[in-house]
Amino acid sequence: MEIKLKEIHKEAEERIKQVTNKEELKKVQVEFLGRKKGKITQLLRNMAALPSQERPLIGKLINEIKGEIQKSLEVKRKQISKEKTEEYIDITFPGKKPKIGKIHPLTHTMEEIKRVFISMGFQVVRGPEMETEYYNFEALNMPSYHPARNEYDSFYLDNGYLLRSHTSPVQIRVMEKEFPPIRIIVPGRVYRRDAIDASHFPMFHQVEGLAVDERITFSDLKGVLTCFAHQMFGKNTLLRFRPSFFPFTEPSADLDIQCVICKGKGCKTCGRKGWLEILGAGMVDPEVFKKVGYNSEKYQGFAFGMGVERICMLKYGIDDIRLFFQNDLRFLKQF
Ligand code: DAH
Repeated sequence: MEIKLKEIHKEAEERIKQVTNKEELKKVQVEFLGRKKGKITQLLRNMAALPSQERPLIGKLINEIKGEIQKSLEVKRKQISKEKTEEYIDITFPGKKPKIGKIHPLTHTMEEIKRVFISMGFQVVRGPEMETEYYNFEALNMPSYHPARNEYDSFYLDNGYLLRSHTSPVQIRVMEKEFPPIRIIVPGRVYRRDAIDASHFPMFHQVEGLAVDERITFSDLKGVLTCFAHQMFGKNTLLRFRPSFFPFTEPSADLDIQCVICKGKGCKTCGRKGWLEILGAGMVDPEVFKKVGYNSEKYQGFAFGMGVERICMLKYGIDDIRLFFQNDLRFLKQF
């Protein structure tokens, strides 16, 4: 009798364990504790057949097991109803805000630069990142012996190709195909064999500009670039055009803005100068026009080129170019 009781107990516990919903639980309860056919109930009923001295002991045992089974049923019942409430959806609860990606700060800056020049009538064109030495250097008045080539330490590929070290070759590609008037900007990637540090990365972005027409003057260049700098950095930004040199422009200039950090007083960012260079520019050199077959007596033009990373860093006070390419969300989330 005792052994049978233990077996029934074990069976009941086993069944309760497997139960997953209320209906099953009810069935198990009826099967073991049901008033008519419950296995335990029947045992209690059969007590009468036992010898009288065994009755109290067995009776106590049956009642204990009954109690245990009831306890297990109760535990399971609670567990099931808890799972149910977790499934319950409160539709009045505020929704979870989905995580939405953001525009990369460089893309954003590039878009802003484009917007300013498009508003002044420039068209956006693109050129290949894999270039020939002719387009990257020669046609831009930089023959192979030219010392300026050292400044553009390039990645050379097979068959005389190289990764363009600036966007200027696209000027040539456009002028070869089109006649003036020309007003274009060229956004894109460029590559240089620079050691990586806070201000150098072997791949970066430039925006090139070119305007060619009859009677274009240096004043046009100053007007367009002043307008650009004011829209980019604010109307009250002080500017200066400083004489410079590029093989493909004559005369050439660098455009500086007053240091955005120290406002001209001199600090670490501007190297105590109070000014920051934002782009190079100049009047298209007649030698370049000669290469594309333009009559330099009839046409003049101005050109400029800027580094997008640099503009973006100055605008947002970013002090390390590597941040753009590390994909660290803590950085990217701020824009
Ligand atoms: N290509 C030059 C560079 O990468 C930038 C530049 C300077 C472009 C003057 C121009 C220009 O079109 O007129 O450093």
